[in-house]
Amino acid sequence: MQTTSKLTSSQTTIFTEMSALAIQHKALNLGQGFPDYDPPSALLDLVKDAIDDHKHQYAPMAGVLALREIIAQKVLHAYGQYVNPSTEITITAGATQAIFTAIAAFIYQGDEVIIFEPAYDSYRPSIELAGGKAVVYTMEAPDFKINWTLLAAMISPKTKMIIINTPHNPTGTILKADDLLQLSRIVKDTDIIILSDEVYEHLVYDGQLHESVLKYPELYQQSISVFSFGKTYHCTGWKVGYCIAPEYLMNEIRKVHQWNVFSVNSFVQHALAAFMADASQYLLLNQFYQQKRDFFLEILKTTRLRPLKTEGTFFQLCDYSNISDLDDVAFAKEMTVNHGVACIPISVFYDDHRQDKLIRFCFAKTEGLLTAAGEKLKQIR
Ligand SMILES: Cc1ncc(COP(=O)(O)O)c(C=O)c1O
Repeated sequence: MQTTSKLTSSQTTIFTEMSALAIQHKALNLGQGFPDYDPPSALLDLVKDAIDDHKHQYAPMAGVLALREIIAQKVLHAYGQYVNPSTEITITAGATQAIFTAIAAFIYQGDEVIIFEPAYDSYRPSIELAGGKAVVYTMEAPDFKINWTLLAAMISPKTKMIIINTPHNPTGTILKADDLLQLSRIVKDTDIIILSDEVYEHLVYDGQLHESVLKYPELYQQSISVFSFGKTYHCTGWKVGYCIAPEYLMNEIRKVHQWNVFSVNSFVQHALAAFMADASQYLLLNQFYQQKRDFFLEILKTTRLRPLKTEGTFFQLCDYSNISDLDDVAFAKEMTVNHGVACIPISVFYDDHRQDKLIRFCFAKTEGLLTAAGEKLKQIR
């Protein structure tokens, strides 16, 4: 009898491991990507209202219509793309489920999916479970730019999907308009599907704009974009997100979604629908997080860590090569155990675990926590 799962090499994620180590050693946790503050109180009140209003039974398979309608309004306003709430939006149990479902729907045995490393850790196992093969484009530190000519050369007759992620976890880089235009040119007249992970869409800094696939009408016709309320409203534990795709793709996604989760938490969807009416809540997020990024950068100046440029997300990469020769996993563990600050090593975002001596901090934390972490980081010489 076969009693091993199809993911034989899969282990506990480094995020779980570092968070457990942080708890064990009472370290300040700047590792895993979640805020240490609550969602907006108005949203919490709306959740309570939805509970009082008895929104406890199954939501529609595609999600509460009012939520899909307000998302469609937002997309039109932010990206200039009309998407039909009935046929082009599905609410999912976080972005991770949207990614998994999209891959499960379209990837057949032997299909190739191009991913960009360092990469968010759910892409590869989702591809492999579907029987596909991850083909890696490696982005090089420190600027992690994509050379689209090289990317085009990686496309084979088996290429079924390309997964992009902007703003990018863990590097904090963003794709620019020119990147999207080049990608659009490369996949034009092919059957390649773009899976665009845009969970940090509202965390873009220094006056730059988020380049969504939804801004590019031709590209949209062969794209699935995924989003997460967890990142936007400081509620990562609620695990609610959504995906958007043209109807011919969304029909297939829903076939898998239906037998996977069927539908997502009902009262949270009702609360989110009401809360999204106030656009300022997400429009001001750039400012909120830019201030945190700058605050953390000032703190880092007092340390020997060398920060890389962060254009988006709530992550800050730092080069520690002038402090230690340890590999990044060992260094991250030493930081947690001996210096009291947890972080994430970057090698875990690469299949070949390449060593660039980089660690990632999450700055979605209160100023008090960031300051306390700074005091400890200063001591590392
Ligand atoms: C790039 C990226 N995609 C997707 C997710 C998952 O989002 P969710 O918590 O909504 O599943 C994360 C969470 O860290 C992420 O960083």
